[in-house]
Parts: sequence; structure tokens; C-alpha cells
Amino acid sequence: MISFDLRNLYSLADSHGLSEDDLQKMADRIPDYLKKIEERDQGFYKVIDEENTVTGIEKFVSENEGKFENVVILGIGGSALGARCLGETLGRQPTPGLYILDNVDPLLIAAVEAQIDPKKTLFLVISKSGKTIETQALYSYFKDKGGYFVLITDGDTGLEPDFEIPKNVGGRFSVLTAVGLLPAKLIGIDIHALLEGARAMRDSFLSADFEKNLPFQLATIQYLLAQKGKTINVMMPYSQRLMAFTDWWRQLLAESIGKDGLGLTPVRALGVTDQHSQLQLYNDGPNDKFFLFLEVENLGHELSTGLKDLTFNELLATEMQGTIGSLTQNERPNITLKIEHLDATTLGALFLLFEGATAFLGEFYGINAFDQPGVELSKKITKDLLSS
Ligand code: PA5
Repeated sequence: MISFDLRNLYSLADSHGLSEDDLQKMADRIPDYLKKIEERDQGFYKVIDEENTVTGIEKFVSENEGKFENVVILGIGGSALGARCLGETLGRQPTPGLYILDNVDPLLIAAVEAQIDPKKTLFLVISKSGKTIETQALYSYFKDKGGYFVLITDGDTGLEPDFEIPKNVGGRFSVLTAVGLLPAKLIGIDIHALLEGARAMRDSFLSADFEKNLPFQLATIQYLLAQKGKTINVMMPYSQRLMAFTDWWRQLLAESIGKDGLGLTPVRALGVTDQHSQLQLYNDGPNDKFFLFLEVENLGHELSTGLKDLTFNELLATEMQGTIGSLTQNERPNITLKIEHLDATTLGALFLLFEGATAFLGEFYGINAFDQPGVELSKKITKDLLSS
């Protein structure tokens, strides 16, 4: 379903890449790192067993069938990016339409408002902390305009959640709780398949076998390459649908690992589009990047270009090989994550793959991957300014 192609990394082992031996040196310590992760008592790989959440979501959706024309999410960061990713990767829009208000730009708010009838809209108010000013302001704006409001938050906020975010699941790790599952179900995604994929990847994450443990392999590569100065991680899918996934991942990596003066800088790029925007820098600029290509082998739709026998599928795949070939020739370390085809099962597995890798990275760096003091500080300063 999902596998890594590490050949280009190994082919550059003598210069900017890594050898199999380099990776294997970390492998013996998988159980130690898993123990450390377990000690942090985080629930991101446990919530996927919570049948009650799924039952509650299914009940809500079936009881409200046909009642809403649109779903509008009022939330930001981890309370929005997972749902956006689910919508753009798997969603069947526009029935019902899914809108995500994760900014307080009045033009965006007005644009969404112009497209919906609030009275026929389901508003999902999502906030782990229940205290985020942007979400509070958006809720305040819409709450008297009619519509149906559902609150998804942590039970510790003092608010009464309709769906609870478990205490030990942080914002950016919450996509497989009601935060992502409810919007997913509302737009027709098979949430059982999503969780099944996540559970399969969890088996990999908890495996002491390096060959099986894809999250550990990825984290090891990211970590060892950072020691070689590749502290910028470029994720480049050759699939338009996966662009929103890169957004979700960007928050996950940036907020989890960027602390104590350490961190990896996530950069998102899209194949083929950004070949004509970023590739010059990637090939010829500083060799400070690690490239992670996402290749979807079966895109689910064949289309002929009309140029000889060439299909768009072949063009996309060949251009990817061109990009990878050029980077490898220029000794830029890169790997490819191969995805047979993109469906709910695969996406569930992808979420767990990157969450697991992030958890390992936190332990490699000896930092807490699950807090976000830098974000909290900005929230506090904003609140202080607003109340002065
Ligand atoms: O990962 C996190 O905890 C944060 O980035 C949050 O997702 C973001 O700040 C939104 O916070 P909240 O869900 O509490 O409204």
C-alpha cells in the first residue's frame, strides 16, 4: 500500500546521502524510543481504537441527514488542517459543501458567508483549548445568524463539548478524533477505512523491526540528514490532491520539532507546478535540503494529452523522474514515498506515518514534540494587547 524507495539516498551515501548501515545504527534503539514515547502518555495512536467516537459520529450524521446544505468549520491550525486535507484529498464536494474558516480576514469571511445560508448550515466549532481568539471571534460572528452549532473541544476547557477531544491528544495530532472524523463523515468519507489504515500503520510504528517501521525509518533519515546540514525538508507530491496533506504535515513538523533552538523547516512544493518555480533553487542553490517525493502510482483517472500517445499520467510520472534524476545528479538527497492509490485507508496510514515519525524525531532530539510554547506565547501577547 505504502513503501519507501531509498535508492537515491543510498546512491549518495558517500557524499550527501546515507548508507543502509547509517540507518541500521539507529535501529537497535527502536524499543527505547518507543518506551520514551509511551511515557509521554500521548493518545494519537490510541484514539484510533475508540469505537464510541465513531458510533457517536455516525448517529449524529444519520439523524441529521439532509438537514444541512453546507458545513462550515470554525477552527484554526490543528483544528482545521486535517479536515481541509480530508476534504481536498478524498472529499466529494460540493455535496454538502465544506468551507473552512481558519483565518480572520474579513474578505474570506464575507466570501464564505455569501455562498451559504447560515440557517441551513452546520457550523463545527473546533478548538482543543477552547480559548483561541480567532475561533471565538468567528463563533461570536455567526452564532446569532441561525444555523446549527456543534462544539468539538477538550472536556477540560470548561465548555460542554458535543464531541470531545481526548485530553492526551494535541491539536495537530487530532485529525483522527472527531476533529477530522466528523467533517470526514459529513462529506461522505469512509471513516472506518481511514481508521483501519491508521491502525495498520500503528502496527508498523510499534514494531521493533526496522524494515517494518516506516515512521522510524523516515524519522531516522530526517534526523541523520539534519546532522549533515539538511535541515530543510521539502515534501513534494506529484498529485494535486495531496497538496493539502503537505499543509497538514507542515504544521505537524514545524510545531512539534521547532523548539529549544532546534527544528526542521518544512517546505511544501507541488509537482509538476513547482518545477517551474522552485527547482532551480533545489538543484543549484545551497545543498541544505532533504526531498521527500510522494508518488501516487494509480491516480484513478487516465487522460490522453493528444500529443502522440502520451497520457497526462505518463507526463506527470516522467516529469517526476526528471526532477528526481536532476536532484540526484546534483547530489541532493531524496527519497520517494510510493502510494499505490489514494483512498481513505491510505490516507489514514499516511496520517499515522507522519505522526509516528514526528514522535520519534522528538525523542531523537530529546524534546517534547507535543507542546507548542511558541504558539502559546503569541496567543498570550495578542490577548494582552486586546485587553489593554
Ligand atoms: O497543535 C496545536 O495545538 C496548535 O497549533 C493548535 O492546533 C492551534 O493553535 C489551534 O488551537 P485550538 O485548537 O486550541 O483552538
